[in-house]
Amino acid sequence: MEKQAARMKKRGQINVVLKKPADQQALHSHQDPDVLQKPEHTAFKQIQQELDAFVGLQNIKQFMKEIYAWLYMNHKREHEGLKTGKQVLHMVFKGNPGTGKTTVARLIAKLFKEMGVLEKGHLIEAERADLVGEYIGHTAQKTRELVKKSLGGILFVDEAYSLARGGEKDFGKEAIDTLVKAMEDQQHAFVLILAGYPKEMERFLKLNPGLPSRFPLKVTFPNYTVAELLQMASKMIKEREYQLDLRAEETLKEFLILTKEKQEEHFSNGRFIRNLLERAIRSQAVRLLEEGKYERDDLMTIKSIDLANAFYHSDTRSTE
Ligand SMILES: Nc1ncnc2c1ncn2[C@@H]1O[C@H](COP(=O)(O)OP(=O)(O)O)[C@@H](O)[C@H]1O
Ligand SMILES: [Mg+2]
Repeated sequence: MEKQAARMKKRGQINVVLKKPADQQALHSHQDPDVLQKPEHTAFKQIQQELDAFVGLQNIKQFMKEIYAWLYMNHKREHEGLKTGKQVLHMVFKGNPGTGKTTVARLIAKLFKEMGVLEKGHLIEAERADLVGEYIGHTAQKTRELVKKSLGGILFVDEAYSLARGGEKDFGKEAIDTLVKAMEDQQHAFVLILAGYPKEMERFLKLNPGLPSRFPLKVTFPNYTVAELLQMASKMIKEREYQLDLRAEETLKEFLILTKEKQEEHFSNGRFIRNLLERAIRSQAVRLLEEGKYERDDLMTIKSIDLANAFYHSDTRSTE
C-alpha cells in the first residue's frame, strides 16, 4: 500500500501523493458506488459534483473523500462514545501557480461548513503584506486582525515562506509566532492553510521545525499535463460560447508545449490557459471589427491568428 494516494499515518496524519490510475482502480474495485448517494451524504455529494467539473485533480478528489470519511466516522464514533482522533485540520498545499490551490481551498471551506466543522465557511486569502507590519508590535496586531476575520472559516496564506524571508530580525517571524499562538488559542475556530511552490514550502517547513506537526494534512497539487490543459481550454471556451477552429487547436497545443517547457516551475497552469483565452477573445474582437464580420459563426470562432496575437503581443507569457 506504499503507493496509496492518501494514507492515514500515525497521529491522524494524512499525506497525499499522486498515484497511477491503475492502482486507483484496484483500490476502489471493492466499493459500492451508490453508498455516497444516500441522503446523509448530501454535503459530500455536492462538493464531489463541483470537483467533477474540474479537469484532473485525481489525488485531490481522493483527499476530499478521505477527509469526509474521517470526519464522518469521528462523528459516528462520538455517537457511540468511542475515542475520536484529534481533528487538527490545518493544511499545507504544495503546488505551482494555477494548479487549483485557491479553488480547492474554497471547496474545502464549503465542505467544512456543510459538515459543521466551520461555522461560516468563508475563505480569507492573505499574503505577506497582509500579515507583516512596519514596526514592532504592528505585525502581531495585523496578523491577529486577519485571524479574527477568518474565524469560522479558512485563512489561506499564499507563498507562506515569504514570512521567513528576512531572517531573525524580520517581522515575518512575528507573524508566524502569532499564527501559531492563534492556532493554539482558537484551535477549532478556524483552519489555516499555508500554500506555495513545492520546493520553497518544503524548505520553509524544514527551517521551522515546530511547524510541520501543526499541519497534519499535506496536499500536493501536480502540474497539469498538456492534455489536461487542452481539456481545460475546451471547457472554458465552450462555457463562453466560443469555439476553436482546427488550426487554432493545433496552435494552442504548440503554445502550451513551448511555454510549459520554457517556464518550468513558473508556468501558471490553469491561469495561463484562462489568461491566454481571454486575451484571444479580445484579439478576435479587434480582428472582426477590422474585417467587418459579424455572422454568428464569425462571432463564435477563435482562429489560430487570434491565439498568436494573444500569445506574442501580451503578458500572458509571464507567470501571472
Ligand atoms: N482542474 C482545473 N479545471 C479547470 N480549471 C482549473 C483547474 N485548476 C485550475 N483552474 C483554473 O485556473 C485558475 C487558477 O486556479 P487557482 O485555484 O487560482 O490556482 P492556484 O491558487 O494554485 O494558483 C482558475 O481560473 C481556475 O478556475
Ligand atoms: Mg492561489
